[in-house]
Parts: sequence; structure tokens; C-alpha cells
Amino acid sequence: MSGTLKPWRVACEADLRLHSEPDSIRFWRVYHDVNGDPRALFNYRFEHTLGVVKLARWLASREGADLEIVECAAWLHDCRKLLNAHSKVDTHARDAAEAVDGILDGTDFPAAKRAGVKQAILHHVGLKLSHRLEPIETACLWDADKLSKIGAASLVHFSCISSGFEPVDTAHILARGEHWIKLAQGIVDSLNTATAKEEGARRFRFLQRHYAQLQREWSDPMKESLP
Ligand SMILES: [Fe+2]
Ligand SMILES: [Fe+2]
Repeated sequence: MSGTLKPWRVACEADLRLHSEPDSIRFWRVYHDVNGDPRALFNYRFEHTLGVVKLARWLASREGADLEIVECAAWLHDCRKLLNAHSKVDTHARDAAEAVDGILDGTDFPAAKRAGVKQAILHHVGLKLSHRLEPIETACLWDADKLSKIGAASLVHFSCISSGFEPVDTAHILARGEHWIKLAQGIVDSLNTATAKEEGARRFRFLQRHYAQLQREWSDPMKESLP
């Protein structure tokens, strides 16, 4: 019987590609033609999710969480989120949780674990927490999603996507980064798990060094040596 079921990771990745690629093309309004296939300039949603999946697997194994629940929730946590959505109320966590059954039907994902996936997805939003999330699977998804926003990969993703929202230049990137550092401190303070707290502190120091260096380079670094 299980031989007729689709592997759940394959189903999750396929659904994410199916929704994120057209949404990215809509967002950018232009696209590359790759052997007849329209491809977005940068598929932020897919790249962000892939980063969260990698972190989720690592965190779940370090924290003793159910790996299938955490990884599946990571694949699907933003699966219905649109780039630059203008709706007043952010429903992307609820929309994703409601899509879970349709994506996992016909796959080999254990039915008894679906509730854990939906719970983690429903609670993954926000940049600060007032209390520690439970169960551990929900905590791991929140931590993985937030860690993905404060690492080296987050700088790559931000650089690639930012010009899609508005015209940007280096000074703009620097100002946005310095603002983000302040928010990132709140993220680090809110992380649930010991593993994420340690990694978050490391990433936060990296971000501070990165933007401090950018600030030095872009604020006329030669002025002290000029006559
Ligand atoms: Fe999200
Ligand atoms: Fe996310």
C-alpha cells in the first residue's frame, strides 16, 4: 500500500515550487527565459524556505524533536504567503495550515503527525515572543524561521530581493541593515531552544560586524588619509 504513496518531501517541494515561482514572476514583473520556461529573477520564497528546512532538520535533531513534524512544517510554513501582499490582515500562517491536508493527502507522511505540523505552522509568525513556545516541534520551527533571517544567507536573500520592492542603492541597504540589527536583537532574545540561542548569538555578532564594515566602507573610508 505504501508503495503507491508519494514521498512527502517530494510533494512539499513540488507544491512550494508550483506556487512560489509564478508568485515571484508576478512580483518582479520580468523574468528570464530558461529553455522556454519563465523563471523568476530570484525566487525568494523558495530560497528562504530551503534555508528554514536546513535549520529545522539541524535544530530538531539537536533538541530531540520529531524530525518529520519539524521538517514538514518548515517546508510548508510559508507555502501560501505572497510577496508584497497588500492585504491588511496577515493570514499566511492560517492559509498555510489550511493547505497542509491537500498537500499531504496521497503521501507517506504519517497521518498522526499532521496536527503537530499545523500547530507549528500556526505559531511561527512574529519577531518576538512573550513566552516559550510548546511543544518542542513548534518551538523548533519558530527558531529555524527566525535564525534564517539573521545569518549570512539572509544577507544574500535580502540583497537579491530588496530591489524588487523599490529602487535601492548601497546607502539604502546599509540603512535598512542597521534598522534590522535592532529588530534582530529582539529575535535573538526570543529564541526558544538552547541550540538556537547559541547559534543566534553567533549570527547576531556576524551581522553586527557585517554592517559595521559596510558602514566603514561607505562613509568615505579614505577621508582620514586625505590631506
Ligand atoms: Fe511566515
Ligand atoms: Fe518563513
